Amino acid sequence: MNTKLNEILTKALEEIESATTFLKLNEIKAFYTGKKSPLSEIMRMLTNATIEEKKTIGAASNRVKQQIEEAISNKRVALEEKEINDKLQAEALDVTLPGYEFKKGSIHPLNKTIEELEDIFVSMGYSIAEGPEVEIDVFNFEMLNVPKGHPARDMQDSFYINENILMRTQTSPVQVRTLLEAEGKPVKIVCPGKVYRRDDDDATHSHQFMQLEGLVVDKNITMSDLKGTLSVLMKKMFGENRKIRFKPSYFPFTEPSVEVDVSCFKCGGKGCSMCKHTGWIEVLGAGMVHPNVLKGAGYDPKVWKGFAFGAGIERLTMLRHNIDDIRNFYTNDYRFLKQFEGER
Ligand code: DAH
Repeated sequence: MNTKLNEILTKALEEIESATTFLKLNEIKAFYTGKKSPLSEIMRMLTNATIEEKKTIGAASNRVKQQIEEAISNKRVALEEKEINDKLQAEALDVTLPGYEFKKGSIHPLNKTIEELEDIFVSMGYSIAEGPEVEIDVFNFEMLNVPKGHPARDMQDSFYINENILMRTQTSPVQVRTLLEAEGKPVKIVCPGKVYRRDDDDATHSHQFMQLEGLVVDKNITMSDLKGTLSVLMKKMFGENRKIRFKPSYFPFTEPSVEVDVSCFKCGGKGCSMCKHTGWIEVLGAGMVHPNVLKGAGYDPKVWKGFAFGAGIERLTMLRHNIDDIRNFYTNDYRFLKQFEGER
């Protein structure tokens, strides 16, 4: 019997020793101390033994059971310690390690231009308007006096989503949205935003770029209000001595329409490579709001007049910083972006 007990003890101790989890340890405990344990089995085998035998073997079996329980409890303590040590090791922090270098970001040059434009116009009493980049054809073209089949649609190759919905090709649909929302009251807004055209990307074209739209509608608006406003804008953007000039142009939603030039800020108008020796640089399109646009949005063109303009934000930024490739704005080269840190 003693040999049997020793065998049980050795086996139990071996199992306890090799246990690496609390789960395993609990299983071992259940097996060796439960009702069906090999020790209980031995006690059952003693039914026919003498009282003396029962006493000695019973006592020996109890000692074995105690030893097993003690080993289990020691192992439990060891496992707990190991758990804590592992955790400490995993969370160890070497405070002497050098830190990671996080590169400091800065506001994107295009956003800087937008912020600056917004400041200029807010200081002149304008509100900032917004509109969706996914637009309906009716607002992007039709209500801007460009019905289906109109040749002006070819000027702006569009990304259509379905027959009636497209990625807006210009910020001008915000004119229509703003007028409809204002319900016959005066309007004075600028709207910066992204626009999309089916162009092949190169140094001066991008299938996605940004515009700033402007719209003023009131009862006594004239072309000189437009000229005065754009003159202030150009002086603030390109320097106090800048002059502007209007050249006749065509946009379906303005009549008359003009192309706006600013006197070259590099040579002051004498002629240089920047202005292609003309002394002038083309910066934006503008005009008096077409009567059809006013009428369509519920404004009587006999009573209400307005001016509008649309400027390319990349173009303005490229001119100011002498950037020769529009793709620089979109390729996120840190060395390019870093140059505009803190600048305005
Ligand atoms: N939407 C025109 C374009 O993308 C730009 C423009 C021209 C907007 C004249 C205007 C405007 O508001 O009056 O080519």
